[in-house]
Amino acid sequence: MVNRLSGKRILVTGAAQGIGLAIAKACAAEGASLFLIDLDGERLATEAAALQATGAKVGHAEANIVDAAAVASAVAQAAREIGQLNALINNAGVNVFAEPLQTSEEEWQRCFDINLKGAWNCCRAVLPDIIAQGGGAILNIASTHAFTIIPHTFPYPLAKHALLGMTKSLGIEYAGKGVRVNALAPGYVATQKVIDYWNSFPDPEAAKAETMKLHPGGRIATPEEIALAAVFMISDECPFMNATYLTVDGGLSVQQHP
Ligand SMILES: NC(=O)c1ccc[n+]([C@@H]2O[C@H](COP(=O)([O-])OP(=O)(O)OC[C@H]3O[C@@H](n4cnc5c(N)ncnc54)[C@H](O)[C@@H]3O)[C@@H](O)[C@H]2O)c1
Repeated sequence: MVNRLSGKRILVTGAAQGIGLAIAKACAAEGASLFLIDLDGERLATEAAALQATGAKVGHAEANIVDAAAVASAVAQAAREIGQLNALINNAGVNVFAEPLQTSEEEWQRCFDINLKGAWNCCRAVLPDIIAQGGGAILNIASTHAFTIIPHTFPYPLAKHALLGMTKSLGIEYAGKGVRVNALAPGYVATQKVIDYWNSFPDPEAAKAETMKLHPGGRIATPEEIALAAVFMISDECPFMNATYLTVDGGLSVQQHP
């Protein structure tokens, strides 16, 4: 433990598995106090207990980020258990991939509800506390889908583009109040979400090999590699980084043709 995040009280969403869990572990190892929320309360409780066993100060609640009242209640619980929040990592998100004209009303709604409105619900609930304390940081986990398009992944990239828009908007709006709002854009990361994506193809092994081949280094990121960047961005080590994003994709989005 190096304590790069000592004094940070961070709400992390979607922390029961994948990138969110890796971020929670990395932040705890750097001395942050954490409040974790997820739809999957059971898995979250197990992971929170494991973190507490390392000596970390960690609270948790089962909550759906789409439900603004549930988010507000989680933020109030966080204040009681770990102190008033001064940072937020909006990580919870879902893949909703379709051909545009085949996209159902329900898919559109679910995509924007979770990937955009959920993140806004959390910003709206935590920002007043951050501002009242003279400032803090928000990190939105976007994606390379926030500025590039893969056919047949509609409408996920639209929601991630909008998340980047919200990052810039809030970053500008509250810069004078000491708030930094940034986004982290991972490419492919080895989580359940990506395994589910490969499994959606008739030959999952071939789909996986195809993904690896797309990458200049021949591999995809681990969740821990994304968490390293998240720790830096939520820390005080980049005090003038605001209203922008950092891509962590091994060069995937820069290479024009493999
Ligand atoms: N895995 C990747 O390749 C990849 C790449 C780029 C960006 N991302 C982004 O990173 C974030 C995390 O992705 P992941 O791969 O770790 O996903 P994951 O599916 O492994 O984990 C997501 C977690 O969020 C929780 N969650 C989902 N909807 C929720 C809701 N409405 N309220 C509360 N919790 C909810 C889930 O229960 C789960 O624990 C997402 O925003 C995703 O879009 C992932």
